Amino acid sequence: MKEVLVIKGGEKLKGTVSISGAKNAALPLIAASLLSNDDIVLSNIPRIEDVCIMLDLIREVGANISKENNTVSITPQVTDTVIRSAKAQLIRASILLAGPLVAKIGSLKLPFPGGCNIGTRKIDLHLNGLKALGAKVKVGSDFIEIKADKKLRGAKIELPFPSVGATENILMAATLAEGETVIKNASIEPEVVDLQRFLSKLGAGIEGIGTRILTIEGVEELTGTQYSILPDRIETGTYIAAVAASGGRIILKNCDINIMENIVQKFTEIGVNIKHCNKGIEVSMNGKPLPTDIITQPYPGFPTDMHPIMTSVLSLAKGRSTIKETIYDNRFQYVQELKKMGAKIEIKGDTLIINGIDKLKGTRVAATDIRGGAALVIAGLTAEGRTLIENIKQIERGYEQIDEKLRSVGAEVKRLKL
Ligand code: EPZ
Repeated sequence: MKEVLVIKGGEKLKGTVSISGAKNAALPLIAASLLSNDDIVLSNIPRIEDVCIMLDLIREVGANISKENNTVSITPQVTDTVIRSAKAQLIRASILLAGPLVAKIGSLKLPFPGGCNIGTRKIDLHLNGLKALGAKVKVGSDFIEIKADKKLRGAKIELPFPSVGATENILMAATLAEGETVIKNASIEPEVVDLQRFLSKLGAGIEGIGTRILTIEGVEELTGTQYSILPDRIETGTYIAAVAASGGRIILKNCDINIMENIVQKFTEIGVNIKHCNKGIEVSMNGKPLPTDIITQPYPGFPTDMHPIMTSVLSLAKGRSTIKETIYDNRFQYVQELKKMGAKIEIKGDTLIINGIDKLKGTRVAATDIRGGAALVIAGLTAEGRTLIENIKQIERGYEQIDEKLRSVGAEVKRLKL
């Protein structure tokens, strides 16, 4: 039995959507909880598949977990240093257990991480950073083993690329290392900054929060805390895109457009009206989107995770748009699915050339990854006729209650078992 989404396109959207907590903050903060000696309570945690998997993985090494709605309580005792579950290969974030566990108990053995099939996605920057702190790394055919015979020691590390995950892994490990660690060219993505704020609340000695140079003075131990994670800027951008493509007017609650200026600027440029209101932000759109050119960049540039979603919107623009993808080497798999719906998209190396058309046509498509799947939902909302989306587990990895939220603003979205 598999579940699909069936969307009848053409409805203008109207109503209110509440934005969930950020997937890409929830995952590193769940890993970071293992660094603490006391209980941790995380709130505004999205109820999505990747969070369930991450919680299963820390349970496997000994943590006790209880969940109530969007709040997760973690007792982070660690009694094992081996992750055997194949689930670790379903998400990229499993590699984020390495820093905390090697720092806390000196060892971790786990399968290679998985996650969205959007490129090579090496982990060399993670492993090199942990080695710089004194860890030994053994890479097997289907596992990685990272050990530290004695306490990690602070080091000066310069990242060749501001990798989100590598910054997070090195930062987490450095909090319990002996002495000072300096991370240069650190990622400044809002979710990485949320992790820095969380670690500081646990008692970590971090200087330069939110900047590209982080200085971490290792401490003996970290305490517990309660922490509410930041809103998901990519989910917010996804619902703005839904209005940009379908037209209408919606209110987005529990979001923060100050962490997504680049996304708001791009939507405004193509004709979407976005303004603060007393309940959050009001998003409205009349007529067709205007074309634009996008280059994905590390924060504060335009985020790669919004690229597939923007492609669906620009497929309906009045003219020719381009999207140059500079972060991943293979993030275009969703394009073939959009082309089945009539989108006029050419792939030229690392750049998409999108010639806007009047209407997309509903048909049977399959989600290739989280954001590629979201792109198909956006396309289905505006397409003529019905769009059937298979492999919706990919979409549910990153979006809490996406069909309920869309129905609440008037979209005709059904979840069917085939
Ligand atoms: C995080 O992935 C996000 N995932 C991704 O979101 C997001 O696309 C990405 O950051 C960039 O913003 C989570 O936070 C769980 P990177 P991450 O390390 O940490 C290369 C989504 O849809 N690289 O900044 O893996 C890598 O191959 C997901 O929510 C190395 O070469 O991102 C990629 O091309 C998709 N070696 C680029 O850097 C390394 O050791 C960006 O990777 C690490 C990365």
